[in-house]
Amino acid sequence: MHDIIQMLDEKRAKARMGGGQRRIDAQHKKGKLTARERIDIFLDEGSFEEWDMFVEHRCTDFGMEQDHTPGDGVVTGYGTVNGRLVFVFSQDFTVYGGSLSETHAEKICKIMDQAMKVGAPCIGLNDSGGARIQEGIASLGGYADVFQRNVEASGVIPQISMIMGPCAGGAVYSPAMTDFIFMVKDSSFMFVTGPDVVKTVTHEEVTQEELGGAITHTSKSGVAHLAFENDVEALLKLRDFVDFLPSNNKEKAPTRPTTDPADRDDISLDTLVPDNANKPYEMKELITKVVDEGDFFEIMPDFAKNIIIGFGRMNGDTVGFVANNPMVLAGCLDIDSSVKAARFVRFCDAFNIPIVTFVDVPGFMPGTDQEYNGIITHGAKLLYAFAEATVPKVTVITRKAYGGAYDVMSSKHLRGDANFAWPSAEIAVMGAKGAVEIIFRSDIGDNEKIQRRTDEYAANFTNPFKAGARGFIDDVIMPHGTRRRICQSLAMLKNKDLKNPARKHGNIPL
Ligand code: COA
Repeated sequence: MHDIIQMLDEKRAKARMGGGQRRIDAQHKKGKLTARERIDIFLDEGSFEEWDMFVEHRCTDFGMEQDHTPGDGVVTGYGTVNGRLVFVFSQDFTVYGGSLSETHAEKICKIMDQAMKVGAPCIGLNDSGGARIQEGIASLGGYADVFQRNVEASGVIPQISMIMGPCAGGAVYSPAMTDFIFMVKDSSFMFVTGPDVVKTVTHEEVTQEELGGAITHTSKSGVAHLAFENDVEALLKLRDFVDFLPSNNKEKAPTRPTTDPADRDDISLDTLVPDNANKPYEMKELITKVVDEGDFFEIMPDFAKNIIIGFGRMNGDTVGFVANNPMVLAGCLDIDSSVKAARFVRFCDAFNIPIVTFVDVPGFMPGTDQEYNGIITHGAKLLYAFAEATVPKVTVITRKAYGGAYDVMSSKHLRGDANFAWPSAEIAVMGAKGAVEIIFRSDIGDNEKIQRRTDEYAANFTNPFKAGARGFIDDVIMPHGTRRRICQSLAMLKNKDLKNPARKHGNIPL
């Protein structure tokens, strides 16, 4: 018995040392924490229960039978974040570069299966040189086993990937199927093929960072949702983020008691929208002024900035915000913003998170670039996502809601539950100038006539009352009371029960 206990201690100590002190030092030198240090920061103190510490690879090629590290390059288990259960796997770059062997994959699959059984989020801390080269096809099979679970877990439990080192080749497709991808600046990268292959095939010279670094993926490709300065910041923010989410698709996100009154007015909102309809304003100011304690967790702030998405709480409950941003492209919808918002709306809908939409949209972005790249298909994604969503939907039109974009932005027609407009709202087919130039084309050149027609059109159509007369909006509200009206609506919608027709799955335009 004594021998066994001693062996246990030794094995544990060996597993905890991963690839050894030299490689741990190398990891630290790169500004990266080890797999276990990361788990310690991410989870509540002392809450981590590790599984499969003694798992070893089964490879017998290339002398691998002589070389075993308990745990095989990934630390897996469960613990809590602010008292709530989460499952986690953390790849250990000090062991064979965190590369994925058959057994490494089995460990990940085991905790994914368990997370599914008990309905808890699964979080991956990725830091891996990819498929374990010595194992070849066995490790590719391992990836596919993880992919299959990612897909089955999609919409059932939240899945988040934090990329904290290399993630290349087939390895990228597991994170790609999770709900959110976060990255650490300067130390993480993701690409399907690396700079050397790119150079050979396309003759482009590009660095690892330019091709797949955190800045690239959070500002250019939109693959990743947030970039953090370092491991510590990333893991602490990940804790905040998890706190907004429910544990699974059958639960509601946790309510966090707030001292911020639900009926708090904000007089400054009455002057947020400038008198000049062509002047932009900060939509983010509206969001931070209506959410509990000004705490808005923005997602993808540097990609498709013409739309803003993120989580906040209203009277203690998590809400997903979608808002046009008049500061960028006048808030027009384009391909990137449609895709960005559509995926977010679908996440909220899958996980019972009500959606609040702030609308100031002059329409879809014109141009050959947009048309050739499929704005029809991609714009339809956002329309589809809003229309399909059965969670409570509250919409506030602050200014422009023109044309097809009016319909798309969680309008009454797409089963919006509470649709409000500020007095500054202009709900119309298009702006007055454009409308007059089409319907009174023969008057073009007669400036006085055109001006009179434009004023007439503006007085008649660019206001919230035509839509109000039809019941397309439920009320015209004063900006200062926006928080109160949203909180009231969400309270009314608390027990909303709406189901889409039974079907295998819909066919969203991909
Ligand atoms: N399989 C097995 N071992 C791997 C590995 C892999 N895919 N990737 C890295 N390693 C090992 C290295 O042999 C090295 O081992 P050592 O500590 O015993 O010397 C260790 O992990 C660290 O790798 P190293 O190359 O020294 O680290 P780096 O920071 O300089 O580079 C990578 C990291 C990921 C860029 C580089 O290791 C690499 O290109 N790996 C191969 C990626 C790949 O082609 N994967 C397979 C296809 S998906």
